[in-house]
Amino acid sequence: MPAPSLDSIVSLCKRRGFIFPGSDIYGGLANTWDYGPLGVELKNRVKQHWWNTFVHRRTDIVGLDSAILMNPKVWEASGHVETFSDPLVEDVKTNKRYRADHLLEEQGIKASNLDADAMWKLIQENKIKSPDNNELTPPKEFNLMFKTHQGVVEETSAMVYLRPETAQGIFVNFANILQTMRPRLPFGVAQIGKAFRNEITPGNFTFRTREFEQMEIEYFVKPDGAKDAFDAWQKDVWNWFTVLGIDKKNLRVREHDPDELSHYSAGTIDIEYKFPWGWGELFGLANRTDYDLKQHEKFSGEKLLYTDPHDPKDKFTPYVIEPSFGCDRSVLTFLIEAYTEEELDNGDTRIVMKFDKHLSPVDIAVLPLSKKEPLLEKANEVRDLLMNETNLVIDFDVTGSIGKRYRRQDEIGTPLAITVDFGTIGDDKEQGEEDTVTIRDRDTLVQERIHISELREKIAEYWKK
Ligand code: GAP
Repeated sequence: MPAPSLDSIVSLCKRRGFIFPGSDIYGGLANTWDYGPLGVELKNRVKQHWWNTFVHRRTDIVGLDSAILMNPKVWEASGHVETFSDPLVEDVKTNKRYRADHLLEEQGIKASNLDADAMWKLIQENKIKSPDNNELTPPKEFNLMFKTHQGVVEETSAMVYLRPETAQGIFVNFANILQTMRPRLPFGVAQIGKAFRNEITPGNFTFRTREFEQMEIEYFVKPDGAKDAFDAWQKDVWNWFTVLGIDKKNLRVREHDPDELSHYSAGTIDIEYKFPWGWGELFGLANRTDYDLKQHEKFSGEKLLYTDPHDPKDKFTPYVIEPSFGCDRSVLTFLIEAYTEEELDNGDTRIVMKFDKHLSPVDIAVLPLSKKEPLLEKANEVRDLLMNETNLVIDFDVTGSIGKRYRRQDEIGTPLAITVDFGTIGDDKEQGEEDTVTIRDRDTLVQERIHISELREKIAEYWKK
């Protein structure tokens, strides 16, 4: 099947309640998106699976939920005030804004890490114009951090930033975690939360937005253990994506050239995904060395050292390996990967979201064939049985023809659908024996007739596979 277009993903997301344009009734706000009833379930499942894999199923990682607003000195110490910027150019006629490095790279001119003057020289030499074919302004460094004010009276209130990464909340809590949890190296601290960047060119649906969620781990190691930890994380992350159904052929590892490394990094790889518009960064893994802890020590005046439990005189600054996931980007990747169009035997095409069964927003749909009693009551009993005796998310749908309801469940990726029909209430032997239901598999389309008393076992077996 050819890769789906981004338009078909955006349209399915809106049609089925995954993701809506932000502030829609006011004409929207560019590049903002709201997760609808199914989108929030999908996103929560991605976060839960991530937390379960990297926090609960490991003995070396603890969690944290730190504040978005932090003392502005944090961002001086981290280097974000000075260096977290992109080169901005403007079309002199339309005033549309672009990243100078992106315009140069589109012409095959490598521009990472050039300063604004060098980029301007290249723009002039190569006579590069804006996409509307107008002259450009000279590039200037544009800091990506959003500023706001904390306090009631704007003039006297303190300026604060919205955090551009969740990582710094972990570094500033390093001493608190050492004191309260007494972890031994190597250990990690995980956090999921919002981050904000005033991106010059957001776009491609939820791929690049100004408000997004990250899922980050700062993994503290002895300096000589950094390489092994880096390699192990690369494998663990790759496995997480592939276990959840991302095809290996749509993933690749890209190592950053030395001249494109972030100011804190001694080595970075990205895991890239083949998005509908081409390869793009899905995840980043960096060796942040002891940069952040040392900077915070310098700016705060607090000691941020680890003491070797076997030798209390041996106090040192650990190195940090940082696996950094974009939550929204991961959700987008799972949506793209799941999207499937299938030709059916009767010539129809069905759209089916083949999510891994741990990610589907709904686990089981209960579909009564008719709204008439006592069939409806029987279907309610089946729904209640599943709701009370499993932890699964159950949808109950009575509207429209059964064909339409199957199509909706396929498009939202529900792995199993249970149909309650006239056979179930003992009124039609041809449909089935009394107290039996049909259970339909989303992927194989196989329909099986089973007794209601066998449902729990059948379902447990399915989720164990
Ligand atoms: N703490 C390190 C850090 O923030 P990054 O490569 O800038 O590193 C990590 O960001 C991940 O966050 C990216 O791999 C991407 O998945 C996600 N991300 C970054 N900027 C984003 C944006 N504007 N919109 C959506 N996701 C973004």
